[in-house]
Amino acid sequence: MSFIQLKQLTKLYKKTETPAVNTIDLDIEKGEIITLLGPSGCGKTTTLRMIAGFEQPTNGAIIIDNKEVYSEKTYLPPEKRGIGMVFQDYALFPHLTIEKNVTFGLSKWSGRAKKDRALEVLELVGLAEYGKRYPNELSGGQQQRVALARALAPRPHVVLMDEPFSNLDAGLRERMRYDVTVILRKANTTAIIVTHDQKDAFAVSDRVVVMNQGVIQQVASPREMYRCPKNCFVAQFVGKTNLLEGTLCADLKHVDTYIGRVSLPTQSEKLLEDVRVSIRPEGCRLAEDGHFSGMVERVTYSGEYQEVEVRLGEQHDAPQPMVIYAPIEQDIEIGSVISFDIKAELVALVEA
Ligand SMILES: Nc1ncnc2c1ncn2[C@@H]1O[C@H](COP(=O)(O)OP(=O)(O)O)[C@@H](O)[C@H]1O
Ligand SMILES: [Mg+2]
Repeated sequence: MSFIQLKQLTKLYKKTETPAVNTIDLDIEKGEIITLLGPSGCGKTTTLRMIAGFEQPTNGAIIIDNKEVYSEKTYLPPEKRGIGMVFQDYALFPHLTIEKNVTFGLSKWSGRAKKDRALEVLELVGLAEYGKRYPNELSGGQQQRVALARALAPRPHVVLMDEPFSNLDAGLRERMRYDVTVILRKANTTAIIVTHDQKDAFAVSDRVVVMNQGVIQQVASPREMYRCPKNCFVAQFVGKTNLLEGTLCADLKHVDTYIGRVSLPTQSEKLLEDVRVSIRPEGCRLAEDGHFSGMVERVTYSGEYQEVEVRLGEQHDAPQPMVIYAPIEQDIEIGSVISFDIKAELVALVEA
């Protein structure tokens, strides 16, 4: 049995008509790092708060480590669920030292054990020297680490983190993504992280759960999510893509679209009528005499690559331009005609 199970979990807030979280089922294994990823308002925080016990579900059940913590008949309060929570704003106590902050959840421990555990978790997060300081004497990244140390101190079954990177600037954010993953792995804990940022989710997770409007869209590893998005929403949410309408060919390996015949990486399992293909911009490679060609409408330089908008079609009159990435060393002029090939591995058949 999975370590954490959400069964038909639903939350309908008072005075609202559509559920914030709508009948979600999710199994999480011990030691896994899972992220809930989706746009603002899709129900991520509500899901996390129901798992923590701060929010009462309208329906469904939550099981943690073989124990029902919520169901129609059961309600276990937050402090009995074995959960460590890291809030978006860290919520450190400003009047307590870092050491006191970290031992806050250890009221039943002896003085000695408390001190030892504080040192242990502060060492784990790389702040062993900072126990006597106060939160306002630490940088944002350090405060984040203290919040994580405090959550880990009581040895919880699971750590929940709500938008842990959103208060950090770009450079620190990248560093903390890495540090948090290393700390969680060392602590050997299961973690559920909420984020609206695809890069955060991909960098830290074993598996990503994409949500939209209270409903789980797909659960997959970052690689699988990117390569094989299940539907148009997921394809667009986890990266830039071109979504083209088309017809699946009888061989189930090609799709006819307005740009021509596009190869799929694997044969479709079923014969579908109207389909869409997702073609990632980096799957399009400039090539002389490439299979596809179009007129350049726009070039945006990003430093790492050039984003090129190309209008395909016989008269370069396709209803929408395609976006492809080109190497920065290539000279690409607006109005010129370029040709390219599409790598099948970066093409996916998706549901509308
Ligand atoms: N206490 C509340 N009362 C009523 N509606 C709420 C409450 N909290 C959140 N919501 C609504 O529930 C939906 C999901 O919110 P939330 O779980 O915070 O989303 P996310 O964390 O993905 O941004 C939103 O439409 C939000 O407005
Ligand atoms: Mg939220």
